[in-house]
Amino acid sequence: MATQSGLVFTAPGSPLNVVDNLPRLHPERGQVLIKPEFVALCPVDSLMAQTGAFVTDTPAVLGSGFYGTVTEVGFGCARLKEGDLVFGLGSLGRTAYSPFQDSFLIDERLPFRKGKILSPQDAASLGVSLTTAALGIFAGRHMLAPKRSESVRELQEWVVILGGSGNVGQCAIQLGRFCGFKIAASCSLSNRKTVVKNGAHATFDSRATVEKQVAEVLHITHGNEVGHFMHVFDASGVGHDVAFESLKRSTENFKFFSTVDASGSFAAPAPIKEYRVQAGMLSYPGDKNVKDADEVARMAPVLDEYIENGDIRPAEFDIFDGVGWGALKDALGRYNPESRKTMVVRVQ
Ligand SMILES: NC(=O)c1ccc[n+]([C@@H]2O[C@H](COP(=O)([O-])OP(=O)(O)OC[C@H]3O[C@@H](n4cnc5c(N)ncnc54)[C@H](OP(=O)(O)O)[C@@H]3O)[C@@H](O)[C@H]2O)c1
Repeated sequence: MATQSGLVFTAPGSPLNVVDNLPRLHPERGQVLIKPEFVALCPVDSLMAQTGAFVTDTPAVLGSGFYGTVTEVGFGCARLKEGDLVFGLGSLGRTAYSPFQDSFLIDERLPFRKGKILSPQDAASLGVSLTTAALGIFAGRHMLAPKRSESVRELQEWVVILGGSGNVGQCAIQLGRFCGFKIAASCSLSNRKTVVKNGAHATFDSRATVEKQVAEVLHITHGNEVGHFMHVFDASGVGHDVAFESLKRSTENFKFFSTVDASGSFAAPAPIKEYRVQAGMLSYPGDKNVKDADEVARMAPVLDEYIENGDIRPAEFDIFDGVGWGALKDALGRYNPESRKTMVVRVQ
C-alpha cells in the first residue's frame, strides 16, 4: 500500500505524532486531492487536539485552514484541474479530508482560487475565516455577492456585524461591502481603526451593555427606532442578545440572524430567522451540510474574481519559523488559542 506522512492524533491532550504510514488517498467522483503547502492554526485546531472534539475516528489526522496545489482530480470534476493553487477549509475531524498530511481530499467545489495577489501565507490564513464569513453573510439569506464586473449599487440597507475586528468579522465586512450594504460593526474601542480599514461605515463598542449596543445600532441605522436593517451576523459568537434585541426593534418584515455559534443553547425569538454557520461540516452528510456546501459552491467562483483582484485581505496573522510536519507539531505546542491571530505553518 502506498503511504504518506502527516501528523496524527491518538488521544485528547496527547501531543500529535509525526508518522509516515498514512494511506495515500485518491479522489472519488467530484473530489480533488490537495497537497497542502501551508496550514493555518486557529482555535478549533487546539480544541480538536485537546479534547477530541469533531474527531470521528482514532488515530485521526486533524487540520482546518490550508493553502496548496491540486495534484489529482476525480471523475466528473469540472472546476479544478491538476496544478491549480487553492485555499480553504478541510472537513473537521475526518481523516481523509484533513490537511495535516501530505495530501488530502476535498469536494472540488469548495476551495477558493489563490489568484496572483494573495501570498500563499495570506491564502492559508484566510481559509477558515473566508468560508465562515461567506456562509454568515450570504447563506440562509440565499444571496450572493454580485459578479465583480457588475457595478455595485450602494444600498440604504445596513448589515450589522458583531465582532467586526476578528478574523471572521473582518472578512464579513469586506463581503458585505461587495454587495453594497452599509456596515455597522461592533468591536473594542482599541480595534476601531482595523474595522474601519476593512470598510465598516460605523462602529460601536462591543463591550458596552446590551441596551447601549442596541441603542447604538438603532442610532447608526437611522438615528431613531426605525432602523433600516434586517440582518445581524454575530461573528463574535457572544452577541446573540444584542442581535435579538436589535432585530426586535427593526421595522423590516424579514429579520435574519446568522451566527458563528453553532451550538449555543439560545433560539432566535419569532419572527427572527436563525442560521448557524458550521463551516467545518461542509463535506459531512446531512441536509444542512449538503445545502451549505451547495451555497459555498455557488459563492466560490464569484469570490474567486474578488480574490484575483486583491479585494479580499486577511486579518493579521503569525508565521511559524520552521518547515515540515515536525515544525507543525512544535507550532501546535506553542500556539495560543487565546491569541487573536492565526498561525501559518509551512508543512511541505
Ligand atoms: N461556526 C463555525 O463554523 C466557525 C468557524 C470559524 C470560527 N468560528 C468561531 O467564530 C468566532 C470568531 O472567530 P475569529 O477567528 O474571528 O476570532 P477572533 O479573531 O478572536 O475574533 C473574536 C471577535 O469577537 C469579539 N469579542 C471577543 N470577546 C468579546 C466580548 N466579550 N464581547 C463582544 N465581542 C467580543 C472580538 O472583538 P473585540 O475584541 O474588538 O471586542 C473579535 O471581533 C470564534 O468563537 C470561533 O470559534 C466558528
